[in-house]
Amino acid sequence: MTESLSTALEREHHDIDDEIQTFTSTLAAGSIDPAPLRRAAAALRRHIYLEEEFLFPPLRDAGLVAPIFVMLREHGQLWRTLDAIDLELAVDPDVTTLQKLGRELVVQLQHHNPKEEQILYPQADLTIDDEAAERLRGFLESGAFPEGWTCERA
Ligand SMILES: [Fe+2]
Ligand SMILES: [Fe+2]
Repeated sequence: MTESLSTALEREHHDIDDEIQTFTSTLAAGSIDPAPLRRAAAALRRHIYLEEEFLFPPLRDAGLVAPIFVMLREHGQLWRTLDAIDLELAVDPDVTTLQKLGRELVVQLQHHNPKEEQILYPQADLTIDDEAAERLRGFLESGAFPEGWTCERA
């Protein structure tokens, strides 16, 4: 049986949360290992891309205009935090700054992800046609984030 879109998308949320959690626990122990945070940031950018490119357009066509408006605004906020994280990691990273940015990202995701999981993803299972669902699944499995892409409200 094919896995539902909502299940696959929620798993991406959890995988990203896990990487951030791994990062913040090593940070709490006093050492900086940027690898999990870099993985989380890259995975989140790709996740935002696939939502804005493959998920939101058919949901908007199905009438979910207001919730998508809110999600796009929150993606913009997440994107700015990701930019700040990338900037911090590119220079000599500082524990306090990374702690602050990590917390900011966690709080933003705690507001954002439940709304998608409760409102948008169940609608995706109900309303997205087979063709759009196939495109989304194809990207989830093997699609690459296009270099230089930024989200609509970045
Ligand atoms: Fe999102
Ligand atoms: Fe999401």
